[in-house]
Amino acid sequence: MEMGKTKEFLKKRFMKPSVLDVGTGLGGLVNEFLEIFPEGNFIGIESDETVFEHYKKHGEEPAIEIKIMDAEKMDFEDNSFDIVILSNTFHHIKNKGKIFDEIKRVLKDDGVFILGEMRSDDLSQKQKNHRDLHHLSAEIDMHNGIYHENTYTEEEIVDFVSDFFDVLLKDYLDYESDVSDYTDMVNRLRDILDKKIDKLDIGNDDKKSSSNKADEILENILENGKDIPTMVILTLKK
Ligand SMILES: C[S@@+](CC[C@H](N)C(=O)[O-])C[C@H]1O[C@@H](n2cnc3c(N)ncnc32)[C@H](O)[C@@H]1O
Repeated sequence: MEMGKTKEFLKKRFMKPSVLDVGTGLGGLVNEFLEIFPEGNFIGIESDETVFEHYKKHGEEPAIEIKIMDAEKMDFEDNSFDIVILSNTFHHIKNKGKIFDEIKRVLKDDGVFILGEMRSDDLSQKQKNHRDLHHLSAEIDMHNGIYHENTYTEEEIVDFVSDFFDVLLKDYLDYESDVSDYTDMVNRLRDILDKKIDKLDIGNDDKKSSSNKADEILENILENGKDIPTMVILTLKK
């Protein structure tokens, strides 16, 4: 599924839109929008100042200009953007209502808000493996003081956002991996998880329980593989 309905809708509505990507990180969904609107005016905001180090480490340049800014208090005028994107960031934010209010403020009256978010339900076995790994990472992040929740079901996402915006369109995006042998990936993941769990400020029993969880998930990945869960793509209006 390739968010065809969304692309068609947006192409009819905008020519050279001003686009804000909130929580832009290492890009992700915004790349689909760069393809639809090569002449659009894109800007991304990100609260984590180490984002530039990540790009360096990956030997990449950001595809769009990035400003370090907190989405809870954006430094933009009211009614500034045709399109605002929030992708796979919903489960990273504590004050969702505050950020949705800010998105409403900076979005033009005839603009659209695109919420893209991995769902936690209705997944293939490969996608469940990714979800379970993600949930364990979220648990570790929370222990380390980084706000990171488990992902939500499609219904939970739609219900939450419907209190703030009108849903114009619901669509889906799938990324299927072409990896045939997961051994290297699993070994890398095991190494990363072992180190992270070892560093946690929790008792030995809790560390053991997290390690067991990690082992179980990694065994499933080795056996069945892993795919990013289907993303629900909502086109919303204020
Ligand atoms: C999982 S990444 C998503 C990256 C990208 N949008 C994608 O589609 O893959 C979530 C990003 O949101 C950022 N973030 C979390 N809270 C934020 C906030 N209040 N303001 C700006 N960025 C925030 C995180 O630092 C992280 O880089």
